[in-house]
Amino acid sequence: MSKDEAIVRFEEVTFEYGHKKPILHEVNFSIRRGTKTTIMGQNGAGKSTMFGLITGAIKAESGIINVVNGISIATSRQVIPRTELDLTVREFFEKCFSKKIYDIDPRIDAVLEVVHLNAPHDRIVRSFSGGQQARLLLASALIQNPDLLLLDEPTNNLDKAGIEHLTKFLIDYKKTCIVISHEADFLNAFTNGVLYLDVFTQKVEQYAGNYLDVVEQITARVEKENRKNAQLAKEIQENKDKANFFANKGGQMRLVAKRMREKAEELEDEKVDIRKEDKAIRSFVIPSQPDLVGDILHISAFKTIKNHKAVERKTKIILRRNQHLLLKGPNGIGKSTLLESIAKGTVKGVEKSGAILPGVRVGYYRQDFSTLNFDDTVYESLMSVMDKQFEETMRATAAGFLITGDIIHTKIGNLSEGQKGLVAFARLVLQRPGLLILDEPTNHINFRHIPVIAEALNKYEGAMILVSHVPEFVSKIRIDEILDLEK
Ligand SMILES: Nc1ncnc2c1ncn2[C@@H]1O[C@H](COP(=O)(O)OP(=O)(O)OP(=O)(O)O)[C@@H](O)[C@H]1O
Ligand SMILES: [Mg+2]
Repeated sequence: MSKDEAIVRFEEVTFEYGHKKPILHEVNFSIRRGTKTTIMGQNGAGKSTMFGLITGAIKAESGIINVVNGISIATSRQVIPRTELDLTVREFFEKCFSKKIYDIDPRIDAVLEVVHLNAPHDRIVRSFSGGQQARLLLASALIQNPDLLLLDEPTNNLDKAGIEHLTKFLIDYKKTCIVISHEADFLNAFTNGVLYLDVFTQKVEQYAGNYLDVVEQITARVEKENRKNAQLAKEIQENKDKANFFANKGGQMRLVAKRMREKAEELEDEKVDIRKEDKAIRSFVIPSQPDLVGDILHISAFKTIKNHKAVERKTKIILRRNQHLLLKGPNGIGKSTLLESIAKGTVKGVEKSGAILPGVRVGYYRQDFSTLNFDDTVYESLMSVMDKQFEETMRATAAGFLITGDIIHTKIGNLSEGQKGLVAFARLVLQRPGLLILDEPTNHINFRHIPVIAEALNKYEGAMILVSHVPEFVSKIRIDEILDLEK
């Protein structure tokens, strides 16, 4: 087949999760062979769902999804499902194939090398760090050597070296690839087209050009439409005013008034449907637990992992109110483990890593959302962290995080990953913690929301520990102290 031929084509495709949750409405687009495309859209718009439709894991309500005959497709999923966390590395890779693969071990080694991960095949998936799990996800798609590679938020949890490596890999990649990601520089390095999924209209728009160009095109277009409508609104008002003026004169003048009104209606029709730009979450504050005095947290020891060996180290860090600590170090060194042990008040192997002042409420944002109960509805999850359970307050807070309408009665497990993140932030606001522990809080979150989150963390007045692999995000947050686990 020729290079220009479409490898995937959507024709009038409609899909919904039940009547209340329309995702795509008569969507059309096509992806040419050899291109690298990104899918943009609000958290919960249905980007991951589009991947499911392409692979055939999900069936469309109507329309045609045309995939070139005989090609193979593999997805690097957004997260490892909880049911696969207890598999060994070997079992995890075996599950990528419908048939039994004999002699899979050398193939596993080959892809693990591509993603720079050193992993014994009998190790349990759960035991890997977030960044290492991200590498496993990527490798699980690459091992299938697909004609069409689908990557769902592949940079989440990856450290700087990991992102650089992946970027280079994708620049050199010769086959067709569709990527969902919220990291602009990463996308800009290799994409040559964008599919924009509009959460309001359920339509997909296709743009050519690199990522930043497309973002600019979209913004320019929205501005132009806004200007045109403002002009029309002015003319409409003038016609209405004149109509009222003549109507009051009575007699013949009523006819003139009628014409004026008709003219206003015509202009009304001319107004373009402004393409509502995806909204950013409302600016917010995480209130800190009041009346805390003294040292909120002591960190006296920690454990790091280097070349598969644990090393214990002593330190002396004291966090008081309004002090922000940044925890640094490459993937797999032990950042999340340290955060976990601080939250629990212990460190395995080390007698005591530190102590939290008694009575301090700990707000813990986990990388894998494991503090969220997936069977709870959003409503239950938000109410449960509140000291005084005022439904009004809860709903008002939730709305700021774009958690509205039906979403509030959805089970957490059925939310998109980004929506889970927004729920986790709404919980922190309602909880009013004295100590805030944040592990990679930008994962899965739409790029428009990230500056709003940075601002809230910057202003947080309790004690805070932050882990993040996104330098631009960290640069917007006041940091008073740094603990580099590598040093
Ligand atoms: N099995 C399901 N049942 C009901 N609703 C679902 C189901 N899976 C997803 N949804 C809903 O469909 C919408 C789209 O989900 P999807 O995961 O495709 O979004 P997304 O664009 O990938 O978001 P994110 O950027 O947060 O990853 C969300 O509102 C989600 O709550
Ligand atoms: Mg998704």
